Amino acid sequence: GRTVVPSSDYLKSLVDIEAGRISPEIFIDEDIYRLELDRVFGRNWLFLAHDSMIPKPGDFFSTYMGGDPVVVARQPDGSVRAFLNACRHRGMRVCRAESGNTKSFFCTYHGWAYDTAGNLINVPNLSDAYKDRLSLKDNGLIPVARIESYKGLIFGNFDATAPSLEEHLGDLKYYIDGWVDQVDGGIEVLPGVVRWTINANWKLAAEQFAGDTYHAPTSHASSLLSFGPPFEGKDGAHVAFREGHGESFLFKRHTRFSEDPLSLYNDAKLEAAKARVGDRAEFVANFTAFPAFSGLPGSSNIRVWHPKGPNKFEIWSFTVVDKNAPPEAKKAMQVSASFTEGPAGVVETDDGENWGLIGAILEQGHQARKMRWNYQMGDYPATGHEEFPGAYRDSFFGEAGHRAFYRRWLEFMTSEEWPVLTQEERDAFNKPGA
Ligand code: FES
Ligand code: FE
Repeated sequence: GRTVVPSSDYLKSLVDIEAGRISPEIFIDEDIYRLELDRVFGRNWLFLAHDSMIPKPGDFFSTYMGGDPVVVARQPDGSVRAFLNACRHRGMRVCRAESGNTKSFFCTYHGWAYDTAGNLINVPNLSDAYKDRLSLKDNGLIPVARIESYKGLIFGNFDATAPSLEEHLGDLKYYIDGWVDQVDGGIEVLPGVVRWTINANWKLAAEQFAGDTYHAPTSHASSLLSFGPPFEGKDGAHVAFREGHGESFLFKRHTRFSEDPLSLYNDAKLEAAKARVGDRAEFVANFTAFPAFSGLPGSSNIRVWHPKGPNKFEIWSFTVVDKNAPPEAKKAMQVSASFTEGPAGVVETDDGENWGLIGAILEQGHQARKMRWNYQMGDYPATGHEEFPGAYRDSFFGEAGHRAFYRRWLEFMTSEEWPVLTQEERDAFNKPGA
């Protein structure tokens, strides 16, 4: 492409993990952004949909991978495929619906049609306009090279050489299990995605979900109602993962409002959930799976951060409920998710305001771009935990997850080849006291 490729030396000068210093150029520079679309979004496992969103053959869901529109479709044999939502004739969007069920995708520009596997199946005037010389076989939609799922969470990857999704998720799986396996039947995603735009770089949201619990007492002071009593470091922990993921959690949820249907449901299921997943059943967690998939298990919410330019991203928010929960509990989870984390939620509006104000400074500022931001919190050896895997640190507050995220980001950004991790690297990263 025509991208001016920022050199590896330059990128390394911007991201100094050992010193805990990062230049905000990585959140605003156009060339870095173009390279990121190629080397981060073009090679990583990106969340597409949950099984429950496309249960039947012909069900589809329109989303994005990086900046590219893709359609995810359930096949007649039950498998899932995804492809670029761009017609092979002139690049028009072939699926203009957000979701639905179909037998084919019809391009509304000149009428080419594709089946749900992306094969070109009909071309108007094939014999008189093309004299039958057009190869249908060579003009199918561009497939997403790899589709894999973990416990109903479907991910796609444009890079056929990438290691498996499960290898990429690594020890984060243990924490995801603590959420999606709490009760028999697992989770489902309720219909309807809530989407909104923030004028800031997507990584600000991804890093925050990777472990920025530190912002909550200040940013969300006005909504402490939804958090209960103030918490301290000892009330939770944070975990960094060599694959670039991060998570932090409170050990125990506290009842938001007594007698509210969600708390009653959570209390009622607690013993059974603990029998299945132990202490994880009580965690109030947030996590980011590198690069752009995040979850808020305590708030019934999963997130995808879709980049829309260096200084703009869309938040896609999905409400997650226990599949077998009674209707009133599902309703309560939905209400809770919108009340706290919807675009007008009492928590979410605080976060969006922070990110947007930072984005405005970087957009217009010059001196501000010469800064080195501070990422030093939690810069002490992993404390480790006999039960909880990953690089575990025994404080609710810390930026080890942020540093793991940017360490991995820098590896992708500076590698010509897919940056494979060895088990030795993972072990060294997780080792307590290291
Ligand atoms: Fe799709 Fe021409 S762009 S048929
Ligand atoms: Fe927040």
